[in-house]
Amino acid sequence: MRTFDKVIGRSTSVLLKRLKSVSDGVEEIKISAWFNALAIDTVAESAIGIPFCSQEQSTGAEKDLLDALVSYVKVSDFGYEVDLVDKLEFLGCNVTLLRGLIALLALIPGTKRYRIRQNVLFIHKECQKIVASRGLAASGSHHGLHPPPPHPSSSSGKQGMEEVEERTSATQIKRSSEEGKKEGSWGTTTLTEDLLSVLTKVKIVPESAVDTKAEKKPLTSSQIASLVRELLVGGTETTGGTLACAVYIIDKYPQVKDKLRAEIDGWYVKKQRELQGEVELSDELIPDAIEIVQLPYLNQVVHEVLRVFPVLPVLGRQALHDCKLGEWFIPKGTVVEVPLCAMNYLPENFPDPEVFRPERFDPSCDEQKYRHPYVFLPFGLGPRMCLGKNLALLEVKTLLFLLYRHVDLRVVKDRVQLDANGNVALDVGATMKIKGGVYVTVHPRTAM
Ligand code: HEM
Repeated sequence: MRTFDKVIGRSTSVLLKRLKSVSDGVEEIKISAWFNALAIDTVAESAIGIPFCSQEQSTGAEKDLLDALVSYVKVSDFGYEVDLVDKLEFLGCNVTLLRGLIALLALIPGTKRYRIRQNVLFIHKECQKIVASRGLAASGSHHGLHPPPPHPSSSSGKQGMEEVEERTSATQIKRSSEEGKKEGSWGTTTLTEDLLSVLTKVKIVPESAVDTKAEKKPLTSSQIASLVRELLVGGTETTGGTLACAVYIIDKYPQVKDKLRAEIDGWYVKKQRELQGEVELSDELIPDAIEIVQLPYLNQVVHEVLRVFPVLPVLGRQALHDCKLGEWFIPKGTVVEVPLCAMNYLPENFPDPEVFRPERFDPSCDEQKYRHPYVFLPFGLGPRMCLGKNLALLEVKTLLFLLYRHVDLRVVKDRVQLDANGNVALDVGATMKIKGGVYVTVHPRTAM
């Protein structure tokens, strides 16, 4: 996180600058699309060290990959098909043939599934090229995308998973306050280590041989390319969508906005006191990865947004062997779905679930104290939990911090699509997002 907070600081500052340039209070901005661009930029630079600059004007070799990712985010929604098949299965129909037919569509040119498959294959091929370029770079010949980031710890003598864990653990991300003071703003520091360079050093034992003394082997380049693709795809719509939901819901609850702003403004006052008024604080100064987690209300707001709008509404797990889950017998091979969305709205877990109330995540309140820790899993749990959790939280919090400090976003009510119950309409597929996106007008923030 220590280096990623710089990437995030940079990409969020670009977004803020763009917003300020349209803060006439008139122009209607589809902010959800801007957030997706921010998310692509952040994840691309953090994962593969390539600054896409999609928020500005992207050029160069990475443009095709960027277009493919943008197009993936736009069209990869199988919501209705998946929904139909699931419903038929629930009614006891044998859907094996239907699933086979749907899968076959991916091989027929002209269908949406075909386009999506081609797109994914293209993204994968590009990721393979990037991975290969890193290998070549090590032997001195780089294919010209961007210079690879240096590997500062490669001479430390440590190898494998332990090294990776040590370097990425929360305890390692402390940035010295001296460093923060000197920089004063995010600057344009080059990323010293991206996720790809971490992956190239990971050594694993295959799952089938975990119990044996099998030797750890590095990931193959194809495995790394798949992981890179997962990171790029998994890190875009999730974060962008969560930010759009946050702006939408905070606009509906002005008291939350005021309380959040008070906390953010308070951070500047505290920071000024820490510096004993020696330096005039630049407004570009924002909390780093350590400081941002120390803002309790911001943390509660983000949790509540993830509860009300879980971007991945369902998790899936397959039983590796026969087992019992409560009173249910689960035969080996069964796919078990964990309905995060339904869990987030159970009144026994979250009283008045329809109400957006960040305080329910306040560690000192009974609701939070007595809630079972596993009933709220916005990033999943266990070995397959979200790989980008910390990056996503840092990005979402940093951007909200900047937005509510500097500008006043007002949701354009006429553009909000409603469902039959008068609630905001949602597109629910593999991911869940606000239907039609979120539009805002941007106003300068007065009174600080
Ligand atoms: C607010 C933002 C995000 C949310 C709510 C979110 C949520 C999730 C959830 C619920 C899962 C499934 C976990 C499970 O099955 O237990 C997941 C998986 C994953 N996420 Fe995220 N995610 C977010 C952002 C990101 C970002 C920024 C990245 C990349 C840097 C990322 C990369 C991944 C990957 C690679 C997986 C698959 C992990 C695996 O299968 O082993 N996510 N995410």
